[in-house]
Amino acid sequence: MSGLGGRPCQLTVCRGCCCGRKKKVPGVDHKAQLARLSAIDDRSGCTVPVRTSKCLGICFQRNVVVVQPSQEGRTAGGRPVWLGGITDEALVEAIDDWIVRGGPGLAPLPDALADHVTSKDAKKPKKRKKAKDTKKAKNTKKERKKAREKSERKARKKAAKGRQGERAGKKKAGKGAKKNR
Ligand code: FES
Repeated sequence: MSGLGGRPCQLTVCRGCCCGRKKKVPGVDHKAQLARLSAIDDRSGCTVPVRTSKCLGICFQRNVVVVQPSQEGRTAGGRPVWLGGITDEALVEAIDDWIVRGGPGLAPLPDALADHVTSKDAKKPKKRKKAKDTKKAKNTKKERKKAREKSERKARKKAAKGRQGERAGKKKAGKGAKKNR
């Protein structure tokens, strides 16, 4: 129990099918990270309880950590804060620092964590639809083909007119020659 006001902050660290896996997040010592999170003390000096979860349901995120407020923090309006992408040491340090200062409800969220806030209802960002792009590209192709055909038709018409003009000129010249005989 926290000496300052009941239950301390708690951490839920996801270590399931995706979070904490080298396959999904290479280059991170996930075991060491869990050990580091498990060694965080709150502002009264009590070690913060850490629970691991097999999946928190937002696997498109990586290394999800939920910071539960202390009893005192909850009374002050603090609610669990879901963080995703906790993959480097600086972010773990920021969580530690936040909890030492009181955590949710008692201390403002550190700037370093602001971009990592997520929720249990977070939706996987949609990929840009390829079909639309292909349709657009096809349309552009079609438009270019149409324009090319139009200019070819114009050129053919112009050439045909030119030939007609030449023939008419030749006829006139032929009649003139007959008259002169
Ligand atoms: S494995 Fe962590 S959210 Fe699913």
